[in-house]
Amino acid sequence: PEMHQFLHELPKCEHHVHLEGTLGPELLFPLAARNNIQLPDHFPKTVDDLQYKYDNFKDLQDFLDLYYVGMSVLITEDDFFELAWAYFRKAHADGLHHAETFFDPQGHIERGISMETVVKGFRKACDKAEAELGITTKLIMCLLRHLPSQDGLDTIALAKPYYEQGLIHGLGLDSSEKPFPPELFKECYEHMAKHHPEVLLTAHAGEEGGPEYIHNSLDLLKVTRIDHGVNSIKDPQLIKRLADSQTMLSLCPMSNLKLRVVQDIAELPIREWIEAGVPFSINSDDPAYFGGYILDNYLAVQSKFGLDVSTWKLIAQNGVKGSYIPQSRKDELL
Ligand code: ADE
Ligand code: ZN
Repeated sequence: PEMHQFLHELPKCEHHVHLEGTLGPELLFPLAARNNIQLPDHFPKTVDDLQYKYDNFKDLQDFLDLYYVGMSVLITEDDFFELAWAYFRKAHADGLHHAETFFDPQGHIERGISMETVVKGFRKACDKAEAELGITTKLIMCLLRHLPSQDGLDTIALAKPYYEQGLIHGLGLDSSEKPFPPELFKECYEHMAKHHPEVLLTAHAGEEGGPEYIHNSLDLLKVTRIDHGVNSIKDPQLIKRLADSQTMLSLCPMSNLKLRVVQDIAELPIREWIEAGVPFSINSDDPAYFGGYILDNYLAVQSKFGLDVSTWKLIAQNGVKGSYIPQSRKDELL
């Protein structure tokens, strides 16, 4: 209980949460009704049946199949606003101070929803979170790696005004990892680096893919952060590289357990990373699907690792240092 309060009060930053992954049954079914969305026949019909699916994913793809159907209930700017605002409120109650949130515009554009609707709705929630909750926020647009690189380039072109106005701050890469390695998206990342050099570049790597997915994300996409990165531990050279360059990994413990990246959270290479000096943060990924928001993820790590107060302070500090915020904001949080 003492540790619970300590972890609650620790100044936490989140770097890996998909806003569409905060859509739980309690909002999904009402939105489907409100927007007259006919969910597919195979989609669970009740909150309990849907929750059962959430508790029994086989792997990443099994989750993604449900995730893309789930997001089909999001139609209006207000839907996107409501979703993100509910997340910020929950995260604020968990003691979150800074959030870098992913979104997947291609999952909406292919259903006929405009980039404007998505970005405006999410931005409105970000602005409200900054004004009313004191949370600083960044929006990171992710490209879906199961779609062609050209689709990614088209999406970047659609988002250009929002990058220019400073309403989107990063580029990420997500969805099915193993069949779609980072090298496929080299052109997309090169375009961003050339035309929007201030934008944060990150990519999911080493969740199901091996260490070479991480090396190639660093070498070819020139990312400065790695989302997940669990499989870095299989390559000692890579561990040294991450430590030398102080490249932060955004670890998602409950996600890794639910998607069977590990069989037990105790298997995560947390002690090895700490010993080697690899910075990492602790994140919720898709909290509505994996059964826990940011504090639950901190608590899940604590229950398996029993870390001491100074180690937790180091983890929190690394999260602040690795955040995409000005030094003045870092000073406030440290
Ligand atoms: N999209 C949402 N969550 C994801 C994850 N953990 N890995 C890849 N793509 C995702
Ligand atoms: Zn993710």
